[in-house]
Formats: sequence, structure tokens, C-alpha cells
Amino acid sequence: MTDEKRVTTTNSGAPVASDEHSQSVGADGAIALHDHYLVEKLAQFNRERIPERVVHAKGGGAFGTFTTTADVSKYTRAALFQPGVETEMLARFSTVAGEQGSPDTWRDPRGFSLKFYTTEGNYDLVGNNTPVFFLRDGIKFPDFIRSQKRLPGTHLRDHDMQWDFWTLSPESAHQVTWLMGDRGLPASWRNMDGFGSHTYQWINAEGERFWVKYHFKTNQGIEILKQEDADRIAGEDADFHIRDLSAAIDREEFPTWTLSVQIMPYEDAATYRFNPFDLTKVWPHSDYPLIEVGTMELNRNPENYFAQIEQAAFAPSNFVPGIAASPDKMLLARIFSYADAHRYRVGTNHAQLPVNAPKSPVHSYSKDGAARFDFQKAEVPVYAPNSLGGAHADPQVAGDTGGWESDGELQRSAATLHPEDDDFGQAGTLVREVMDDEQRDRLVGNIVGHVSKVTRPELRQRVFEYWANVDPTLGLRVRQGVEPSAPGSNEDAETVGVSA
Ligand code: HEM
Repeated sequence: MTDEKRVTTTNSGAPVASDEHSQSVGADGAIALHDHYLVEKLAQFNRERIPERVVHAKGGGAFGTFTTTADVSKYTRAALFQPGVETEMLARFSTVAGEQGSPDTWRDPRGFSLKFYTTEGNYDLVGNNTPVFFLRDGIKFPDFIRSQKRLPGTHLRDHDMQWDFWTLSPESAHQVTWLMGDRGLPASWRNMDGFGSHTYQWINAEGERFWVKYHFKTNQGIEILKQEDADRIAGEDADFHIRDLSAAIDREEFPTWTLSVQIMPYEDAATYRFNPFDLTKVWPHSDYPLIEVGTMELNRNPENYFAQIEQAAFAPSNFVPGIAASPDKMLLARIFSYADAHRYRVGTNHAQLPVNAPKSPVHSYSKDGAARFDFQKAEVPVYAPNSLGGAHADPQVAGDTGGWESDGELQRSAATLHPEDDDFGQAGTLVREVMDDEQRDRLVGNIVGHVSKVTRPELRQRVFEYWANVDPTLGLRVRQGVEPSAPGSNEDAETVGVSA
């Protein structure tokens, strides 16, 4: 509520004489440089933006509650996953490649970032609406993102660049199949699933370790947009998904998701039929079925987008006791990357902002830095170890923070588990066994539409081979769709052995 009797003040609290007129020498004269209120307004305005996220720049979110409804304490001792525990949380959804003002309905994976304010510190799970990713080593991530963003000269997005990178990185095939299929255009954030995507580690109270994958299933049902509808909406309402979530919460139609996990016993990793730490692979549910954990409900809209969503900092390095990393090289790279991005994008002391601060006490030895406002009493020592009663680390926690055996020379190579794994097998299974005929038809249509904008002939050939490697019929249908009169395009789908 506004108070009409309230007087405008400067940032330092002094009342100001006018909201509308700057101070000038006579009514028509020069503006006075010592009109410090005018200077403050203009200077503050110039600094209103912070750098947008280098990826996932366009998004929205809401607060809510996670309730653990089942008993998974034999797998993890994490406080938030103990039976009956309710934990306050924040979710942010996003597209990946588009900038701040870009349309919500461009084809892209969707970010699914969660921050749980647990009693033992913040736990962040920064996932997507797909269970896999384009890459399996973080060293390729900057190249990948540049190929999806804009050309240096014209500042245009470029299909040649995208497909050049994808076809030279065949490990992308599984995720590109998801992306070109229905899941690349969710009808709303409420109507999509979320995945932790990586394999993580859970540790129980006895110190036993497990490998775990997270699945958040939407209770609103999966709904998707057809390409033509997404294109139309992109013009009519670029903020379609932000609006949908916030309007649903205003109507008190609170969206919910059920969290289930796949649990792999620690020892199974060595002998499992795929490398379980390869982010381009799923674990079939027939091998490791879903085990229900609890429910996430989003029920409170942010009051201020900038303070609570734009400045929100989600970091895969924010673990809590009972949850830890795995040898997934992508995850290990992300554990460095996000907190580093936050120090640059939001500032050294980003963790002090209300949206990022844990609800549990902080006894860290970090101090000072730009915009620090929290401080300890003068008598609290600034170093450890100390003999003055300052906080001291707890060696017991080591058992709750996971680990795995590894030894060997430093090297640059693919993981040694299952070097024979191929890049196309699971993508082919997705096309042949998970999709139905209509979904396959839409997949072909979406790929054809996209690849038709590739200009270099030899790159098109590479794209056709890429899809033929996923599935020969799919490859042929893509070729026929993009180049109906080219040699090879009039081959019958039957002759390549898999029915359409
Ligand atoms: C955002 C890096 C892979 C999901 C970001 C940001 C960076 C980044 C720097 C911006 C953070 C910020 O400014 O707040 C990387 C690197 C990766 C990687 C280096 C590979 C090594 C992934 C994967 C996923 C993912 C595999 C999903 C499974 C997200 C999401 C956001 C994000 C959802 C938005 C976070 C938010 O809502 O604030 N990534 N990323 N990223 N990334 Fe990644």
C-alpha cells in the first residue's frame, strides 16, 4: 500500500523538494551540477542492470514448499529428505540460449533450478526439463553455447553454426533428439517435468553411499506447443511462460511436482551396462525403477523480480550433508563455474542477499568485499584455528560429504568406464521405442524445418548422416524433407530396414 503522506527522500534519507523539476539557474537556465538529487537519480538509473546470465538469461520463478512424503532415510541422511520434513524453496525456470527479452516459446531446453532452504544450509539442484545433456565434458561448454548464440559479425543466430557443432559432437545426439521432439516446446513451465540430469551421490546415516538421479514429474500433466503455435505466441506474448506461472499462483492454482529418484547401489557403477556418470545417457527405469520421495508445490510469487529472481544465484556446488557429487565430468566443471559466475554477475557477497541467504546460521570465515553488510561481533576471531572460541570445522561431516575411489596419472581422455558406449544408441531407442507415430512425425517436421535453414551443402550431408546414425529411417525422412529432389532422397524407407 502506498502512503500519500510519505515524503520522497534521497538514498540517504533526506526529504526532496521535487519529483519533477531539476534545479536550474532561472526557469530556462543551465542545470546545476550540485542538484545532487538529479545526479543521484541518473547515476542510479545507469546502474540498474547487472550482467544477464551468460546462459539461461530469460526466466521466471516462484517460491514454494517441498514436503518429503516417503521414507528414503536408508539412502540419505539429508535433513530435507527425512520423512515429513517441509522445506521452503525457490524455483526458477528459463530458456537456455535466448537473451533477457527473448520469447519464452523458442525451441530450447528449459532450465529447472531449485533452491531448498534446509536446516543444514542451502541445497541447490540446477537441472533441466531433459534427463540428458549435449555434452559429457565441461571443457566443451563455452564452445557449445557460442555455437547456439550469435555470429560475431552480423549478431544473427545461425543454423550452420549450431549444426556444425552438433554434428562434430556426436555425443549431442540424444539431447538434440529430445530438443527437436515435443519436449523442446513445453506449453508452460507447469506442464513439464524436471530432472537433476546428472548422477549425484546420496549418503545415509551409516555412511553408506548410493548413486542417485532425480525426476520431478509434473502433476499438471505434460502439455506441449506445436511449432506453429509457439511461433505465433512468440510474436503475441514473449513472456507467455512467465505470465502463465504467475497468473496460476495468483489464482491459487498452485502447481505441484512429485519427486522420485532412481537409486543405484554404489558398487553397481563399475559393472552397469552404460557409464552411469555419462550425462548423455539415461538409466532405463527397468534397471532402476522410480522411488517416490515427496512433493514440491509452488505457492508464492516473487514480490520483486530483480531482487528475488534476477539476483537469485543457484549453484551446483551448494550441497548439504548426505548429498554429494559424482565423477560426472560435466558436474565437476559446473561445481566451479556457477559460484564463479555469481561472484562476477551479482557480486562477491551474493550469498548475503535475502533470496540467496540460508535460513540456517552461517559461521564462515569469509569477510569484507564489495557491498558486505553482515559482520561478526568485534571479539569473534577472523582466523582459524583459534583459541578464542571461534567456529571450528567438524571432522564428522567428512563422512556425509561423499567421495569415490580414484587414482591414476593426470590425463585428458574419455572416462574409462565403458569406452565402447556409442553416442547414438539411446537416441535411437528414444525415437523407436518411446515416441509414438505422431511424435515421430512432429520430430521429423521440426528437424526438417530447422535443417532447411542450414546453407552449406557438405554440412547438410553431415546432418543427414547424424540422423541416419540415430535411426536410418529418420535419417532418410529428414533428407527427403530437406532436399526432396536430391539423389538418394527417393529411396524407400522400407529399404533401410526400419519401418516409418
Ligand atoms: C546457468 C555454466 C551445464 C542448467 C548457468 C550459468 C553458467 C552455467 C555460468 C549462469 C549462472 C548465473 O549467472 O547465475 C554451465 C557449465 C556447464 C553447464 C560450465 C557444463 C559444464 C548445465 C547443465 C544443466 C545446466 C548440464 C542442466 C542439467 C543450467 C540452468 C541455469 C544455468 C538451469 C540457470 C540457473 C538459474 O536459474 O539461475 N550455467 N552450465 N547447465 N545452467 Fe548451466
